[in-house]
Amino acid sequence: PTQPPVVRYYVPFIGSMVEFGMDPIGFMRKHREQHGDFFTFLMFGRKMTVCLGSRGNDFLFNAKHSCVTAEDAYNNLTKPVFGADVVYDVPNSVLMEQKRIVKAGLSTKSFQRYVPMIIKETNDYIDKHWTKDEDTIDIFKAISELIIMSASRTLLGKEIRAQLYEGVADLYHTLDSSFTPIHFLFEWLPLPSYFSAPKAHAELESIFAKVIKARRLETNRESVDMLDVFLTSKYKDGTALTDLQATNMCIALLMAGQHTSAATTTWALLNLANQDNVRNGAYNDMKRAMGEDLPYPEFENLKDLQTLDDIVRETLRIHPPIVQVLRKVVKPIPIPESSHIIPAGNYLMASPVIAATDKAHFQDPETFKPSRWSQQDEAAEVEAEDKNSENTVNYGWGDMSLNSAKSPYLPFGAGRHRCIGEQFAYIQIKTILYVLLKRFDFKLDEKRGMPKSDYNSMVVLPEAPVSCRYIRRK
Ligand code: HEM
Repeated sequence: PTQPPVVRYYVPFIGSMVEFGMDPIGFMRKHREQHGDFFTFLMFGRKMTVCLGSRGNDFLFNAKHSCVTAEDAYNNLTKPVFGADVVYDVPNSVLMEQKRIVKAGLSTKSFQRYVPMIIKETNDYIDKHWTKDEDTIDIFKAISELIIMSASRTLLGKEIRAQLYEGVADLYHTLDSSFTPIHFLFEWLPLPSYFSAPKAHAELESIFAKVIKARRLETNRESVDMLDVFLTSKYKDGTALTDLQATNMCIALLMAGQHTSAATTTWALLNLANQDNVRNGAYNDMKRAMGEDLPYPEFENLKDLQTLDDIVRETLRIHPPIVQVLRKVVKPIPIPESSHIIPAGNYLMASPVIAATDKAHFQDPETFKPSRWSQQDEAAEVEAEDKNSENTVNYGWGDMSLNSAKSPYLPFGAGRHRCIGEQFAYIQIKTILYVLLKRFDFKLDEKRGMPKSDYNSMVVLPEAPVSCRYIRRK
């Protein structure tokens, strides 16, 4: 067997780094046309084998752990941010248990508690910062603050939330700044963040340590947030998580959800601001579902806000925050139905956005059209009734079953590393959008239009500054 085709490059070692770095998605689309779903490019001495389309997604997400691992690709990048002993700094079997604990903690009961907290955080923020009847603001900055406040309040609890603006937010920000592709590529360079991140992490640990100590002194404490869940959960063998693991799991959850949810909420709002009919349709549907005076929703009401759901889903199709999913090959692995084999030492890179914006799966793939999802739901219902099929739709959209790695729509990944924050993210984003749309109308800043994507961080963000106009509803 031979290796997959290699993208031509002119500068040894550096390879295609510059072309890829400037526009990763354009790079992948261009070379996919030439080489097909699997090809390798060189980037600063690393061999990156790109796996595209539904075949590529399935190959990467479902690869055997004995051949392909996430921890060997990510831990250098994530350890300074998440800290030791969690996620990619533990054997995969331990990560699976840590994810199971999180899943159990993100229960219906906890979501019922979280929704009013997210509403309160959003209203408090607006009352404090959006005081004019009309203004042009940096919407990404505002949304990022809303996300960090509501995620801290719900997942980490009252105490950490209270200290957010007494230094905790700055510490998060310091950790964050070492989460860039530079840190993936230049792990041996003495970048400033290699010194600041451990210091910030140690400070956060000591803040959590005080909170944990105080909580342990309470008798009959009710479990109200994820910190409680981590402090009371046990691994299969009966051992408890250490205080350090409980702390670092909290930090990891916050970091995993912060930019992903902030970018998604911002793109959703920008797309609404950009299309009057979609925005007005969403507002009217909110009224239809909740009543003319738009009372605040409870967790149970969120599922009725179908248009907001479609908006988030469509935003994640066109602007998924994660466009590079990485793995490292630790044992040579053949590509099915081909004569190619990928050697150990290569990295794998999937990019679900390529299939999600491919006209083979979606009509008018570049158009933001949330209604395509309710049409597809209706089609699914008809099909399910017709054939009694198992939630798998083939209606010109490809295989849409949400659990299949073959689906062309995988903004939350698939397989053993699939996101466990999807439901939380939907709840948080929909609740924030509801409160904002209830109280304000939004228009794009005509001078700046829609922002470009910024690929300089591991999570794709709208390019700063992202300006948008809010108009208070009477
Ligand atoms: C994994 C996307 C929000 C926690 C993932 C993966 C993707 C993803 C694509 C798979 C990564 C891989 O296979 O390498 C997103 C998006 C989000 C979001 C688009 C928001 C719109 C969240 C939130 C949390 C979270 C809010 C926490 C509450 C995690 C965790 C993993 C994960 C723990 C598992 C990592 C693993 O098993 O390797 N996410 N995520 N995510 N996400 Fe999310």
